[in-house]
Amino acid sequence: MLFDPRPKECRAELFNREKELKVLSRYMVSGSPIILCLGIRRVGKTSVLKVFLSESNRPYIYVDARRLSEFGYSKQGFYRLLSEEFTRIGGRFALITEYLKNIKGVSIAGYGVEFNWKNRELSFSSILTKMNEYAEDGKTTFIVAIDEAQDLRFLRGYRRIDLAQILAYSYDNLKRVKFILAGSEVGLLYKFLGFNSPASPLYGRVRDEVVIERFNREKSVKFLEAGFKEANVKVSKNIIENVVEVLDGIPGWLTYFGYKFIQSRRLNMLDQIIREAENIALNELRKLRTFSPLYIHILRAVSLGFNRWSTIRKTVEAWTGRHVPSKTLYSLLNNLVDMSILAKVNGKYVFLDPIYRRASKTL
Ligand SMILES: Nc1ncnc2c1ncn2[C@@H]1O[C@H](COP(=O)(O)OP(=O)(O)OP(=O)(O)O)[C@@H](O)[C@H]1O
Ligand SMILES: [Mg+2]
Repeated sequence: MLFDPRPKECRAELFNREKELKVLSRYMVSGSPIILCLGIRRVGKTSVLKVFLSESNRPYIYVDARRLSEFGYSKQGFYRLLSEEFTRIGGRFALITEYLKNIKGVSIAGYGVEFNWKNRELSFSSILTKMNEYAEDGKTTFIVAIDEAQDLRFLRGYRRIDLAQILAYSYDNLKRVKFILAGSEVGLLYKFLGFNSPASPLYGRVRDEVVIERFNREKSVKFLEAGFKEANVKVSKNIIENVVEVLDGIPGWLTYFGYKFIQSRRLNMLDQIIREAENIALNELRKLRTFSPLYIHILRAVSLGFNRWSTIRKTVEAWTGRHVPSKTLYSLLNNLVDMSILAKVNGKYVFLDPIYRRASKTL
């Protein structure tokens, strides 16, 4: 179903991403050991990635790095997620468990794979090395897909895991292992990987990138029409055009609208659905307050059109009654750009998502 609110897993439910899937396939066959799948929130990165993986016929593990927060970004949590994934693929690629069982710290029961994270000799690179052997023997490629990969940066630290280091090792040595890293906080992902920073283990390495863009106007209209047709619901062209105007081609919001509209089947739902979407965005933005209360003021200023560095500063200072040091403002604005909430265009800060802009007015 096109308006299914979960990430899509099969091509029939994925609208207009043939080109992106083709590019991913090409990079998989020839290209860098690291492929980045980038795009703003709700644009469909996870959907493209999942459809690609389900069609690829290669063994893969898929880890959503956001889940690491449930485990306090611990080594234990990381290995727990790996255990789940290796247990899953062990069912389909039974030979994989044969390769894994020679690693210290791995126990196998049936198809179940357990990694004993306390075992000092267990390491993610030894697991990858085995998967490289497996892939070589089976003439395939082993894929490690990590969603919201910028969150891997929290794994670093004492007795934790330095994923950037492991990526660099794999990059240089494991020809049959490929990483696909997806992320919405693009600046943070770049910083974590550090391709351009001499201190990073990945410095100077080449990577391939697939950028998932929002739909243009015409495609957005077609997507909504196709979704409503599939659900046998008639909706006027006028409503569809209004929605597209407000949601600016972001597939996640278009899907949310379609799903809600079909559920309620009331014609005057447009405003209410948009308000609900704004509330979702508002809850996400409010989380920033725990890092610095100034984020809220900055976002509100930009949403109201005070969008140059100096006007943002003046506005925030007027609202808070406090001096905002240049360094602080500079770093907070940079963080908002790194998180792909704002972009800087011709000296002005702009929102990448119109729903976030609307929501920020009410922060
Ligand atoms: N091309 C598409 N065709 C149909 N539905 C789509 C498409 N792209 C995205 N969607 C829908 O939009 C929503 C968001 O998609 P998805 O979760 O894949 O995006 P994302 O970029 O990974 O988002 P996030 O940044 O929140 O992780 C889901 O409901 C998904 O089903
Ligand atoms: Mg996603």
